[in-house]
Amino acid sequence: MMTPLKIGVMPQLRAWYDRDPSVWDAASPHAHRLASLGAGLTIAGTVVFLVVLGILATALWRRRTASGDLSGPAPAANEHRWVIGGGLILPVLVLTGVFIATLVSLRGLGADDDGAPPPDIIVIGHQWWWEIRYPVAGVVTANELHLPVGSPVRVELQSADVIHSLWVPNLEGKTDLIPGQRNHMTLAADTAGVYRAQCAEFCGLQHAHMALTVIAEDSSVYARWVQHAKQPAPPPADPAATRGQAAFFAHSCAFCHTIRGTSAGGRAGPDLTHLGGRRTLAAGTLTNTTGNLAGWISNPDRLKPGSKMPPIAVDAASLQAIIHYLESLK
Ligand code: CUA
Repeated sequence: MMTPLKIGVMPQLRAWYDRDPSVWDAASPHAHRLASLGAGLTIAGTVVFLVVLGILATALWRRRTASGDLSGPAPAANEHRWVIGGGLILPVLVLTGVFIATLVSLRGLGADDDGAPPPDIIVIGHQWWWEIRYPVAGVVTANELHLPVGSPVRVELQSADVIHSLWVPNLEGKTDLIPGQRNHMTLAADTAGVYRAQCAEFCGLQHAHMALTVIAEDSSVYARWVQHAKQPAPPPADPAATRGQAAFFAHSCAFCHTIRGTSAGGRAGPDLTHLGGRRTLAAGTLTNTTGNLAGWISNPDRLKPGSKMPPIAVDAASLQAIIHYLESLK
């Protein structure tokens, strides 16, 4: 019996991520600057709002206590001063201040797109998942980005289809992934933790289910992860896994997915070389459990309508074997 599938990302956020995905909970130098800018703009906006409300209330109160005749004489010069001061000079001063504060805060936040060193990580947006490549180490993975705490990494952003946008609220503001273009961002984390990133540009039906898990870890843990992730998949360790690998090829999975160390080399879907070690399935849509994997393989469209992964017509024994094999790919 397959366990009933539970859909819904929000209730699982607490379990999956160490921090709320909020710009107010900053965990990198860039995010601290953005949070300070946000706080400043919020305070300035609140002050302006309260002043305007105060003036409005005063005007209403005065009108009510006056004779009530609206067709009176032209406003006095005194009132013209209010219009010019409050309607022209004050907004120019406030908006200029906001503009300068924003420029100062954002200066140096972006990364140079030209003449810069090669990227540490390449992130490629797909409908609706993230391909993550570490070109120097030769690591390819999906929907999970690892980085060392305290060392900024240079990330190159590409798209395989439409415009996406990468946003890690705790670590970095949004940068678009645009087809035919290479954008860059710098990612850094002050503290180890698991952070949630989200596609922030509407990119089709499953835009909301395009989450990325960002794992910041101590440099020794990170180095171990890289060492492990660059290894090819282990060969099947038992007869069930061998049957599962055969079923994986028999059901054409290899046309879309890569498993390094085997002849499966498809690029249309996520690299599955170490799928068993990942936390989520379908770009942060489901926890990586046996039941969810079974539901996902047999009917992806039910869990993520519009998903590019076709349903696989597979008998129960083969499905079980495929899952056993995939889960062995730690
Ligand atoms: Cu990708 Cu929205």
